[in-house]
Amino acid sequence: MSEFTARYLSDYTASEFAIKTVNLTVTLSNAATHVSSELTIEKLSDTASELTLDGEHLILKSISLDGKTLSKNEYMLSDTTLVIPVSQNQFTLVIETEINPEANTALEGLFKSGDAFCTQCEAEGFRRITYYLDRPDVMSVFTTKVIADKDAYPYLLSNGNKIEEGELGEGQHYVTWHDPFPKPAYLFALVAGDFDLLSDSYQTSSGRDVALEIFVDKGNLPKAEHAMASLKHSMAWDEKTFGLEYDLDIYMIVAVDFFNMGAMENKGLNVFNSKYVLADKASATDTDYFNIEAVIAHEYFHNWTGNRVTCRDWFQLSLKEGLTVFRDQQFSADMHSKSVTRIQNVKVLRAMQFAEDAGPMSHPIRPEKVMEMNNFYTLTVYEKGSEVIRMIHTLLGAEGFRQGMDLYFKRFDGMAVTCDDFVNAMADATGKDLTLFKRWYAQSGTPELIVEQNYDSVSKRFDLNISQFHRPSDNQPNKHDLHIPIRIELIDPVTEEVTSKLLELTSASQSWSFSCTHKPVVAVLADFSAPVKVRFDQSNEELSQILTLADDYFCRWDAAQKIMQHHLKRLTIDITTDIPTSFFEMLSRCISDIKDNAFKALLLTLPSFDEMVSQIEQVNATSLCAAIEQLKQLIATQLESQLLGVYQQCEEFQSVDEGEQVANRSLQNVSLSYLSAITAHEELTEKQYYKANNMTQALGALTAAIKQNTSMFKVLMSDFENQWRDTTLVMDKWFTLSASVPNDDIYGQLTALMARDDFSMNNPNRARSLVGGFVTQNPKYFHCESGRGYQFLADRIVELNKINPQVASRLITPLIQFKEFDVARQNLMKTELQRIQKTPELARDLVEKLDAALT
Ligand code: TRP
Ligand code: ZN
Repeated sequence: MSEFTARYLSDYTASEFAIKTVNLTVTLSNAATHVSSELTIEKLSDTASELTLDGEHLILKSISLDGKTLSKNEYMLSDTTLVIPVSQNQFTLVIETEINPEANTALEGLFKSGDAFCTQCEAEGFRRITYYLDRPDVMSVFTTKVIADKDAYPYLLSNGNKIEEGELGEGQHYVTWHDPFPKPAYLFALVAGDFDLLSDSYQTSSGRDVALEIFVDKGNLPKAEHAMASLKHSMAWDEKTFGLEYDLDIYMIVAVDFFNMGAMENKGLNVFNSKYVLADKASATDTDYFNIEAVIAHEYFHNWTGNRVTCRDWFQLSLKEGLTVFRDQQFSADMHSKSVTRIQNVKVLRAMQFAEDAGPMSHPIRPEKVMEMNNFYTLTVYEKGSEVIRMIHTLLGAEGFRQGMDLYFKRFDGMAVTCDDFVNAMADATGKDLTLFKRWYAQSGTPELIVEQNYDSVSKRFDLNISQFHRPSDNQPNKHDLHIPIRIELIDPVTEEVTSKLLELTSASQSWSFSCTHKPVVAVLADFSAPVKVRFDQSNEELSQILTLADDYFCRWDAAQKIMQHHLKRLTIDITTDIPTSFFEMLSRCISDIKDNAFKALLLTLPSFDEMVSQIEQVNATSLCAAIEQLKQLIATQLESQLLGVYQQCEEFQSVDEGEQVANRSLQNVSLSYLSAITAHEELTEKQYYKANNMTQALGALTAAIKQNTSMFKVLMSDFENQWRDTTLVMDKWFTLSASVPNDDIYGQLTALMARDDFSMNNPNRARSLVGGFVTQNPKYFHCESGRGYQFLADRIVELNKINPQVASRLITPLIQFKEFDVARQNLMKTELQRIQKTPELARDLVEKLDAALT
């Protein structure tokens, strides 16, 4: 059907050649950068007679083997490979190539971000720089000489330590870097540009001094302080928690505006999307601050989980990503509130990973078949991958987990290994049998637990039965039972005593008996101990008791969510359905009783559109949007005076504690989102906007004003634009807000937005803020019955196919998940997918997803 072929995990074979050293000389120029690569190679297999190197979009200038230039008939060149016959066991290859960074809008390999040169090599971008064995199990020692104009590019950076620098003629200069740690090519990085530099240092626990350097666009120096503080916190946390120290003398971070993903953990030289570096109170929200800290930590933690121990092949991606996400989540939980952080993680997983796992691109955390590797940097590999590591942590306990990590590094430091190697280290270090548990790596889909309870008031015996159910999927018709850790709480409703237990479900169905003086209320899946769905018929009465009595805050929050979901489902079917007063009384008690403001804000937040979509089969999107608005309106009206009281308290709140301020602002914004549904309180929004001295409150006000859709919103938005027109990251927020307006003329607005001088599809952040903003923040119009929303997205994907396939392939997600929606919408979405499929020269990224969705 397509010209692209898939690769299979089962086809893995070791490399027949090793590359001992790489000597790169890169002479930078916008349209014609020259790359000279000297490789010392060793043959590992007696039978190997030719060396096949990967290479794409390269102009080959010359090859020499052991000093002898090869003529055209002494090698074979294709669009993706360079094949060289070799008989020697050891040889040196020098390959000269030319590339065009300026024309590289895919942002893979060497490209320009504004005036700077920069690279992105993961997963398979190094082959766009030079011919190479571009696979993670080929590890080599890199020495890199960068040559460029000194005025335009005063900073020339690469991995490792600077070993030499100097002047060349005609205004050129050079810097040579040497990285002593053998690494796969995907961790290579090169940056050249003119930056402001924030310098600091960190003394490791063994007393070594590490230079810390953050490079940002000129003028942005104060906005790098938070990133620097986050880096130091991450370094200290990894020493304390896992005994892991940094290993080079210098750690560099460069912030760039053009970047496909969040950030990249290149050895000693991280490259970051500027969105995850730059922040000050006026321009960044509390969420931005939180995310910057988390991404800085994530990339730092990769130095051990990813770089020192890397992946044998790309099917093992979760080896580094699942583990590193788990580590950054634990870090965030330690830095802030454990329960609030955990609930946020679960919200993302349920709203997005569950949808992915129910859709056509469903795959195990260790995929078995890949056409385009970039398509597998997914919520499944990252977020579900992290949940799998968390389950190991739960099964072994913190100490056992640490012993497992110690053994993992002892065994595999400096190597490229598999997910099995990791689990074996965990099992061997603790004696825990994880044989059955390993199935989590191979099975896709979200497991469902079916819970049944029975209490015998005579014998005082409480029986709990839990079975597991695995919905068959197209690519895995026969699913297996898994080893599932289930943390439960038994709540005695009379004494209010809570008993916590960890159950291990290891077969299709199991029962547990407990002796309980009174019929207990059970909270299942405390701390969300497994990435599963739970089917358990609990009454709203029981859920209310969990909400007030459970020890575990996740269970409390989840109970309230279940009650809200229940009413949202009813309203989706019939918008006029009555909501019982007990519901409003429950919320009222939350408002008056709960002391922790961050938790209170989460409790009062209605399930999002996406969270609801994964709860209702074939949902009518328009009805769901209306239901959410209706419930919000009802809550606002019923609890008006109480919400107003909360809002005023938040306004008057004073504290020197940053965490308390953040919590207060989030509660203030949640109460405003309700109050703004009442016409009489519209002026609160305007007041909050003009009073705000930070982005969290300003954005909270604008978000509330959107729904009101009054002339006031337009005034605030143009004020916002005037204030921030020169601040790229804030204008991204402005574009998202503009695309979120639920108004009949939105399609005309979108066209006008795209015609602006400051809009460009070439900048991923900007493209995502408009297109992704519309798709995720404006469900009413994205899913509108006419299909115009789907058409708009499809048009953008066709456009992005040429510019940046990775970005196109991420944005297509809601269309391929059409099965979530009613048949009429499914058909509209499929029509658009078929239209995209007819695009000439469709990128492999899109071909893979369209094949999966349409066959
Ligand atoms: N390894 C990077 C991370 O964990 C992911 C990444 C950054 C990436 N840039 C990329 C993956 C480009 C694929 C393509 O955060
Ligand atoms: Zn990562």
